[in-house]
Amino acid sequence: MSVIQVICLLFVLVSHGIEGSDHGQRTQRSLYTSKGQPYRTAYHFQPPKNWMNGPMYYKGVYHLFYQYNPYSAVWGNITWGHSISYDLINWVHLDIALNPTDPFDINGCWSGSATILPDQKPAILYTGRDTENRQVQNLAVPKNLSDPFLREWSKTPHNPLMAPTNDIDPDFFRDPTTAWLGPDKIWRVLVGAQIDGKGMAILYKSKDFVKWNRTKNPLHSSTKTKMWECPDFYPINGKDQVEDQFKTKYVLKASFHDQDHYIVGKYEPETDTYEIESDFLDDGSDLRYDFGKFYASKTFYDSEKKRRILWGWVAESDSEADDKNKGWSGLQSIPRSIVLGKSGRQLVQWPVKEVERLRSKEVFDLRNKEVKRRSVFEITGVTASQADVEVTFDVGGLEKAELFDPSWVDPQLLCDQKNASVRGKIGPFGLLVLASKELTEQTAIFFRIFESSDKYVVLMCSDQSRSSLRGGLKKTAYGAFVDLDPNKEKITLRSLIDHSIVESFGGEGRSCITARVYPKLAIDKEAHLYAFNYGSKSVKILKLNAWSMKSAQIVPMKRRRRPIYGREE
Ligand SMILES: *[C@@H]1O[C@H](CO)[C@@H](O)[C@H](O)[C@H]1NC(C)=O
Ligand SMILES: *[C@@H]1O[C@H](CO)[C@@H](O)[C@H](O)[C@H]1NC(C)=O
Ligand SMILES: *[C@@H]1O[C@H](CO)[C@@H](O)[C@H](O)[C@H]1NC(C)=O
Ligand SMILES: *[C@@H]1O[C@H](CO)[C@@H](O)[C@H](O)[C@H]1NC(C)=O
Repeated sequence: MSVIQVICLLFVLVSHGIEGSDHGQRTQRSLYTSKGQPYRTAYHFQPPKNWMNGPMYYKGVYHLFYQYNPYSAVWGNITWGHSISYDLINWVHLDIALNPTDPFDINGCWSGSATILPDQKPAILYTGRDTENRQVQNLAVPKNLSDPFLREWSKTPHNPLMAPTNDIDPDFFRDPTTAWLGPDKIWRVLVGAQIDGKGMAILYKSKDFVKWNRTKNPLHSSTKTKMWECPDFYPINGKDQVEDQFKTKYVLKASFHDQDHYIVGKYEPETDTYEIESDFLDDGSDLRYDFGKFYASKTFYDSEKKRRILWGWVAESDSEADDKNKGWSGLQSIPRSIVLGKSGRQLVQWPVKEVERLRSKEVFDLRNKEVKRRSVFEITGVTASQADVEVTFDVGGLEKAELFDPSWVDPQLLCDQKNASVRGKIGPFGLLVLASKELTEQTAIFFRIFESSDKYVVLMCSDQSRSSLRGGLKKTAYGAFVDLDPNKEKITLRSLIDHSIVESFGGEGRSCITARVYPKLAIDKEAHLYAFNYGSKSVKILKLNAWSMKSAQIVPMKRRRRPIYGREE
């Protein structure tokens, strides 16, 4: 088995021990908080076992499919788990949607995507591993379109629809995208592949969604990457603009090197050409959804709310032994609404509005506070282990900014060298989350401002180097540059904190960093939240709000405490 394939399989190496009796227990925090489960999240989606496939919105219901081994904690017998929601926050787990039962998927129902066909008929294209262990692409459709939850799916007798032929390596051919219809009424779909060492998205076309022809050229390929997993291709609109197919720009995302990278360009459906503005891994313009832990993401279009939603898989940063002990591994990011930023060059992401319903009445509200040089103050009265924090900084004059060295091209390396303990001029300033009382444990999310020859450079870091007194953890300091001019704009930060995950959105969502954190002291009620400034110049907090967050309800159908919720709120 190839190395790349092994990586792909790791996504589903999960849960130990909890499955046996009752999944429902996992959502009752009281059973876990005090009993050795300090890292269990409370409002992030965790399937019974992990990893996502195609999210979809259909007739008022959000569907999420994920990779699931019903028999064991080791990889194998991969099926499509299925959960539904009315609000993207509270979820009900349903029965398995796809089982590996046929020659074309007997060795696993791997990842894929959903497409809504004309006449409101959903269809799933997914990768099956067949009797010869080849990766092939298959089609499944709902058995009963009158079932509002689309619980049962049937595979078409025409499967496999796409098989590896000629130059396609059967080990590197997977993860079909959502398909789209061209103005010529012909369907198109992309499949991730690696040919001659190059990562690519192979393009297929079909008139009937069953017989697919491969086009002469892939939609796009790269000599700088290997296999592309979970490709995604979609039109993108600006804020408050409705997604308008073929008139707006298109985003192409590919998952490689444990990261989700994207590029922006113009797509011509007549010729199926994709004219890009910058390429994958270009120096200085490498665009990523998230500069922390975030992989194998997918988007879908929410036709009711007219928004595109991005959802990523967030793995653990502890050891496999730790995962076995805690009995689970991996979770989903909070769904993010994505739009093309004002610059037109990059995306802007923001947690879906629905998550704000979990904000409780406990709120810390602060305006116009000066944070003096080298100072820290505590944000009190909220549950710091389960919180939503929004802050706006005004740095004032920029005369004192440190000079930016043009050789600093890697923001992660810069955040590692200039971690939160390294004092600066303008910055580091930001938040200390999941911190212990004496600050011996702290995850610092902060900014530094530098001056280069022609502009100011804003660096955002999520520094886990002091996040836990425990050993055996990856304590990376993640970094990203934020595309904003601090002369003209205030610097904002929002962090969603949920026990062992911190999702941070800098510059109103222009740069995002997700981190996994496993404190030893700063757990549950022992967790604290601070704002800090270790720069030599004071900064002002124009506004800071922090909310305690309620837990979401994420349970199997039979364990629901209320009827299928969401609607009544
Ligand atoms: C797959 O499922 C079969 C039962 O159908 C079971 O015997 C086998 O151990 C499973 N394999 C894995 C790796 O879970
Ligand atoms: C299809 O689903 C509807 C709604 O749940 C149900 O009333 C009907 O009996 C189902 N039909 C079949 C053939 O299962
Ligand atoms: C696929 O190829 C067949 C045979 O060459 C052709 O008849 C058909 O029109 C093609 N379909 C599409 C969608 O290009
Ligand atoms: C922070 O960075 C400084 C300078 O690069 C280094 O000496 C120190 O060990 C780092 N601290 C941590 C906790 O990694």
